[in-house]
Amino acid sequence: MHIIDLITKKRDNNELTKEEITWFVEGYTKGDIPDYQMSALLMAIYFNHMTKQEATALALAMRDSGDSIDLDSISGIKVDKHSTGGVGDKVTLVLGPLLASLGVKFAKMSGRGLGHTGGTIDKLESIPGYQVELSVERFKKQVEAIGIAIVGQSGDVAPADKKLYALRDVTATVDVIALIASSIMSKKLASGADVICLDVKVGKGAFMKTEEDAVELAELMVDIGHLAGKRVTAILTGMDEPLGFCIGNGLEVYEAVLTLLGKGPRDLVEVTVEIGSHLLVGAGITDDTGHAKKLLHEALDDGKGYRKFKELIAAQKGDVSVLDDLESLLSKKRISVKAQKSGYVRSMNALEIGRAAMRLGAGREKKEDTILMDVGIELNKKIGDRVEQGDTLATLYVRDRGIDEAISILEDAIKIGAKPHIENLIKKTITG
Ligand code: URA
Repeated sequence: MHIIDLITKKRDNNELTKEEITWFVEGYTKGDIPDYQMSALLMAIYFNHMTKQEATALALAMRDSGDSIDLDSISGIKVDKHSTGGVGDKVTLVLGPLLASLGVKFAKMSGRGLGHTGGTIDKLESIPGYQVELSVERFKKQVEAIGIAIVGQSGDVAPADKKLYALRDVTATVDVIALIASSIMSKKLASGADVICLDVKVGKGAFMKTEEDAVELAELMVDIGHLAGKRVTAILTGMDEPLGFCIGNGLEVYEAVLTLLGKGPRDLVEVTVEIGSHLLVGAGITDDTGHAKKLLHEALDDGKGYRKFKELIAAQKGDVSVLDDLESLLSKKRISVKAQKSGYVRSMNALEIGRAAMRLGAGREKKEDTILMDVGIELNKKIGDRVEQGDTLATLYVRDRGIDEAISILEDAIKIGAKPHIENLIKKTITG
């Protein structure tokens, strides 16, 4: 095969075969195909798109370029969830323990945060001692023993995707739904779970700004999952405002624990229970999503999920005494951002709020940046709330970084005006 023939074929809007896709992924990963030719192929894909079969072949070839985790030795059905990235999204911290407390195995490899979105692994590291790196053997043993482990990515997962994503980033070819879907699914399919629920965020703080694009991405990821033999569901959830009230690592653990104690914000509970219901049905615990939701609410209300979270922290050597002193997760230095006028919170910009938290030190602009665990933002109001001039809109938990900039970003990101129409948070479910 010759790369120039594949570039020509795609330039002329013809479908590449599975063999051709596997060949160019292998060739590019090994360094046999140079960046300039791969860039030309990406640009041809940008203009002529890919079919479902091409996107699936790409996802599988990228999955097979590196390590996959084999969870077959763990008994029972293993489930996983993935969010396309939001602000204040601490669903994994709440959902994992809930599912494990209901007898479903949650074997999770999570990432670190970059830009305005946070990462589960950073959040868990705000608990002193919590070990995010476990050997694969220990990871599997823990899942078998207590039903849950949440660790950082181990091994070299989908190196072809890493290399291609870096090239897309500098050739203006990131924004292709087929490339995004196969990139996300290559990593998900390597994670070894039998049942997967994808939370595709849509709105100001999300990768997908319109519902139409989000549906297209979700449908394609579900199709890729099915063609690869997995049970996959996707839900579309709004990301105009952050999920819950807290943004920042320790702050999000704090809010996740309160949620597991039955005192969580409505939106966080709604998304958690929605995703959880699909996973419980997929795992065969019940065949009715209504019943699944009831089970999840019970596990929130009776503390079963909270006790499982404590077990998880102890198993990964975290200091469980933090759970009795949640304030220790939060910086003592606090600043209020006040409303300049009375009215209703008309809109928020989750991306900008995430950026404000990053300026305070809660997130990284570049991969190498260090983060602060106890800083972030607590929203005191959400979209649709009534506010009077001088009310606190948000509380900043700060140290010494970026305070003035964060305040000015926040002041612009929260708009006060007429009472807004409140949109449904869960916009769609896609089962394929
Ligand atoms: N996230 C990914 O993992 N890949 C993309 O292409 C876009 C977002």
